[in-house]
Amino acid sequence: MTAEAIAARPVPTADWVTIEDLYRNPFPIYRKMRSEAPVHWVPAVNRYMVTSYEACHTVENDQEIFSADETNSLMKRAMGHSMLRKDDPEHDVDRKSYGSVLRPKAIKEHWNAIFQANHEKYLARLKAAGPGSDLIWEYAAPYAAENLRLVMGFHNATQEDMQRWSQTMINGTGNYADDPEVWAASEKSYNEVDDAIDEILPYLRKNPDSSLLSGMTSMPIPLEAIRANMKMTIGGGLNEPRDVLGVAVWALLSHPDQLAQVLADPALYPTVFEESVRWVAPIGMYPRETTRDTVLEGVQLPKGARLGVVVGAANRDPAVFEDPESFNINRPKKPHLAFGGGNHYCAGAWVAKASVSGIALPQLFAELPNLRLDPERPAVDAGWVFRGMNALPVRWDAK
Ligand code: HEM
Repeated sequence: MTAEAIAARPVPTADWVTIEDLYRNPFPIYRKMRSEAPVHWVPAVNRYMVTSYEACHTVENDQEIFSADETNSLMKRAMGHSMLRKDDPEHDVDRKSYGSVLRPKAIKEHWNAIFQANHEKYLARLKAAGPGSDLIWEYAAPYAAENLRLVMGFHNATQEDMQRWSQTMINGTGNYADDPEVWAASEKSYNEVDDAIDEILPYLRKNPDSSLLSGMTSMPIPLEAIRANMKMTIGGGLNEPRDVLGVAVWALLSHPDQLAQVLADPALYPTVFEESVRWVAPIGMYPRETTRDTVLEGVQLPKGARLGVVVGAANRDPAVFEDPESFNINRPKKPHLAFGGGNHYCAGAWVAKASVSGIALPQLFAELPNLRLDPERPAVDAGWVFRGMNALPVRWDAK
């Protein structure tokens, strides 16, 4: 045993944590855990939850000790073996197959115009539904789904298909209770996505465009990997822009001083985006597994330990962020962990920023005068592995 391991303390157990409490509001739980230790064994979750900023950062940047290729991964069952569950060099081959489709140049030259058209389409839908309707389900969800559909090149599917595929496969990824109905819905989507890919690839080979699937037609990568990466991207690229959009609108509408500041200076929308994903990380936790006995921030972990990297907690670590529980666009700029880090740093971060803070947020506030929360029906925020708004009824004045 090394001197470090001898000096390290055993990992504490947090047997008081329940899934129901995490789902409703994980932040008081994270606060208590972080104040006790950077890592806990949490029986209800069947994982070691890593909650301090430093510890999450260490895990993200060391794939030798903290592997993304988890044993018995439910994500692999639900979506196939994607880049997100591979370490380098295998991960790197898959990641490179995405080329420059999601990068700033392509966004500027190609995707921004498409995001703009989608914004107009779903803003019209929200306006038609009228004041009192739900901003998430009439606007944010279909907007995010339609953007992703076109970025990926699923010309043979609808945005509703994308939403169904995403949610059912995410449910599979989180199906720790092994519910057969959840697996049935997830497997149905798995097969539908494979069929859609098989159908569209020959079309895109003949009619190439700027999409991810079109790019795949010339990449030296097996069909199985393409299928898994596409499913993971459907699961990882839809709910998150939807959720940051919802949280950002909710946060601004609940903080009138900051809303006034942003309305007076629309250049602040990118800051609103960054503070929203720090405050409520859309992906609150993702897994890693130790490849050997190790010590993480002074805490002993055995080989094969299944970790939950809780970036939702790290982003509110008072060791890094002053008054971390508050939404505050004027806080000193410090890097948050909402997009992960290291080799798995989110491939879609630019797409999310362009579509949400470049187009959706400024135009929603400009197009819906006196946008405000509906006093009669409360907004509902929920979730912990994924967190966002389940409901966001809003009102506005006629223009
Ligand atoms: C606010 C929106 C988003 C957030 C907060 C977010 C968050 C994340 C996080 C935390 C990871 C790393 C997970 C891990 O290491 O296990 C990740 C990876 C990834 N994300 Fe995103 N994401 C967002 C939007 C998107 C979008 C719009 C797309 C696609 C267009 C996308 C595609 C991906 C892909 C392909 C990976 C895997 C990268 C790799 O393994 O190398 N994401 N994302």
